Amino acid sequence: MEREELAIFDDVEKQAWKLLEKSIIYYKGRPVGTVAACDCSKAALNYDHCFVRDFVSSALLFLIKGRYDIVRNFLEETLKLQPIESQFNAYTPIQGFIPASFKVVSTNEQEYLESDFGEHAIARVTSVDSCLWWIIILHAYVKATKDISFALQPEFQQGIMLIMELCLATRFDMYPTLLVPDGACMIFRRMGIYGYPLEIQALFYTALRAARKLLICAGDEEIVIGIDNRLPLLRDHIRHHYWIDMKRLNVIYRFKGEEYGHLATNQFNIYPDSIPYANLAIWLPKHGGYLAGNVGPSQLDTRFFALGNMMSILSSLASEQQSQAIMNLIEEQWDDLVGEMPMKICFPAVEKEEYRIFTGCDPKNMPWSYHNGGSWPVLIWSLIAAAQKTGRTNIGKRAIELAQTRLSEDHWPEYYDGTRGLLIGKEARRCQTWTITGFLLAKELMRNPHHLELISFGQFDLENASQACEL
Ligand code: GLC
Repeated sequence: MEREELAIFDDVEKQAWKLLEKSIIYYKGRPVGTVAACDCSKAALNYDHCFVRDFVSSALLFLIKGRYDIVRNFLEETLKLQPIESQFNAYTPIQGFIPASFKVVSTNEQEYLESDFGEHAIARVTSVDSCLWWIIILHAYVKATKDISFALQPEFQQGIMLIMELCLATRFDMYPTLLVPDGACMIFRRMGIYGYPLEIQALFYTALRAARKLLICAGDEEIVIGIDNRLPLLRDHIRHHYWIDMKRLNVIYRFKGEEYGHLATNQFNIYPDSIPYANLAIWLPKHGGYLAGNVGPSQLDTRFFALGNMMSILSSLASEQQSQAIMNLIEEQWDDLVGEMPMKICFPAVEKEEYRIFTGCDPKNMPWSYHNGGSWPVLIWSLIAAAQKTGRTNIGKRAIELAQTRLSEDHWPEYYDGTRGLLIGKEARRCQTWTITGFLLAKELMRNPHHLELISFGQFDLENASQACEL
């Protein structure tokens, strides 16, 4: 690389760090989080909040840089927002929940934190992912600081237990996966992902792995047994039922419907006609594959969802072979999955009648925009982490090159539109914090793959499950 070019990229990073500094939220004089976006040209709406999921890349970055205080304060303050008692009112958040976001409010010179569990959000969607991310951040904090005593504090152990109780509670269905409503994760609007979306399952698995390491002196053995039981069931369910490659497509294509009883091979009664198998047969490379977006009764959503697939690699929810196949697919179908801005939130977009039904005619989710096939720069860190974990560093390099030449010029937009991600998102905020931190984190992971430890897990092995964070 030319020296001049290197200097420009250095400047880009410096600028990104400055912007990140500006995004920090202070509460009673202590840094507690980062705002979603610092774009004064648009109405703030809730972009002046600190979103738990948006803070993930900030947190990992701060941990890498030794800025432990902000992550510690974030964990402490968000834990205080967790309801610890059930209020038998359907409109209030349930026990164990962590809010989607919070902001600092001042009245009469008194500061307090106002949280949003979904009651202020558009369409009142509930962020199921917050409590899962919260445990994942806590685990990363303990890994980075080697301070297990922080997580051992009674209120933290209780916080983890409440989340686990919520996730492992007996429900009406009989799958090891988590049943959630639409808009329960990064895709915060109706997109036809209610049921058992991959993103939630991957985060659920990662949070179970993390909780298992953190619940060291948990008085409640039942929860620990519950986690140990659930982990292999969830893993095997996903690896089998969500997996799509040419071999599996051949099996699905010849599925018989209406099978009954224990011996059914088509357990979910998937009708092959509901699968775009003609397109998939052309699209799937010989050695590529991926985990489907959603599996439920007579439903196999074959859309590729980026975050779910990347987190499945990082948590080892996907097998090693599957992880390699996912990276093969990304490499071979680069234009569709990555395009000119790493990377697309999902592929393909839903169009025409499907768009109308799935999104409820949402103008923000037009085909190839926003959640419906838009490109989200924040996803670059998870792509690079997955590339590092699978030893596919070339994929990482290729992705970074695309991002670093454009993001700062475009003022760090929230998302891009179009089939190749060439258009700055129609409604995109500028100076979006997770765009900035996603890029900076990707750079740090490229420089030092050792940091992967904060977010990555090896294959699950019951024998060693109880080993606390190896410090
Ligand atoms: C959008 C995204 C959501 C994100 C929020 C704040 O609503 O869908 O995932 O947390 O913006 O950036």
